[in-house]
Amino acid sequence: MSASEGLNLTLKVWRQNGSKEKGSMETYQVSNISPDSSFLEMMDILNEQLIDEGKEPVAFDHDCREGICGMCSMFINGEAHGPGEQITTCQLHMREFKDGDTIHIEPWRAKAFPVIKDLVVDRGAFDRIMAAGGFVSVNTSGNTQDANAIPIDKHDADKAFDAATCIGCGACVATCKNASAMLFVSAKISQFALLPQGKVEARERAVNMVNKMDEEGFGNCTNTGACEVECPKGISLENIARMNREYLKGSIS
Ligand code: SF4
Ligand code: FES
Repeated sequence: MSASEGLNLTLKVWRQNGSKEKGSMETYQVSNISPDSSFLEMMDILNEQLIDEGKEPVAFDHDCREGICGMCSMFINGEAHGPGEQITTCQLHMREFKDGDTIHIEPWRAKAFPVIKDLVVDRGAFDRIMAAGGFVSVNTSGNTQDANAIPIDKHDADKAFDAATCIGCGACVATCKNASAMLFVSAKISQFALLPQGKVEARERAVNMVNKMDEEGFGNCTNTGACEVECPKGISLENIARMNREYLKGSIS
């Protein structure tokens, strides 16, 4: 490959018409892909090619393309969000691959994330877990106390902010052999559990969110830690321990 020629790649892409249909891996060739292009730009090129050939483009989720929204869920060569640490698929660049490579591209695979089409899965279960308790009820009448007037230990504030960086992408579920959602749920519980504003509903929050997580069909945590390794935002397993403590406190109170 010369710099001007770009990468020639074989893509094995999961195609599926819906959760009730059987899917299969289809093979496509793309050529002259710039190593500087992003993975999603490479997918755009594939789709333009398919449209030119009169074929149906590959459905995949994306929005911000900046690592913020958590939409770009793709399992690439057996890794959630592909190679590279603490990045989402939209932040992955083609320079991570070599000319002549074969790349396998699949959707998140979990019972609680049914395939809508091709690489797009339904992550509505995450929304329903949030609706079960991932909120704080605060007075917004105009008499609200200025948040900066409430003293918060710096270590707790830092940990709460770290937990709040979870973008709800679902990579933790996709990479877990049990399809457990514990890392996600624990981040969403921790961002409130560490702050005074989260204390009001603390008793019900962990119980309601964990019960909803189980009801949605996510698996149990067996402490393999794969979720932490693949999480694009570096959410720590320490949050799961905190979630378990919050759940216990809520269950016995
Ligand atoms: S914990 Fe990490 S991997 Fe899981 S949803 Fe949040 S950001 Fe994504
Ligand atoms: S498209 Fe928003 S995080 Fe990737």
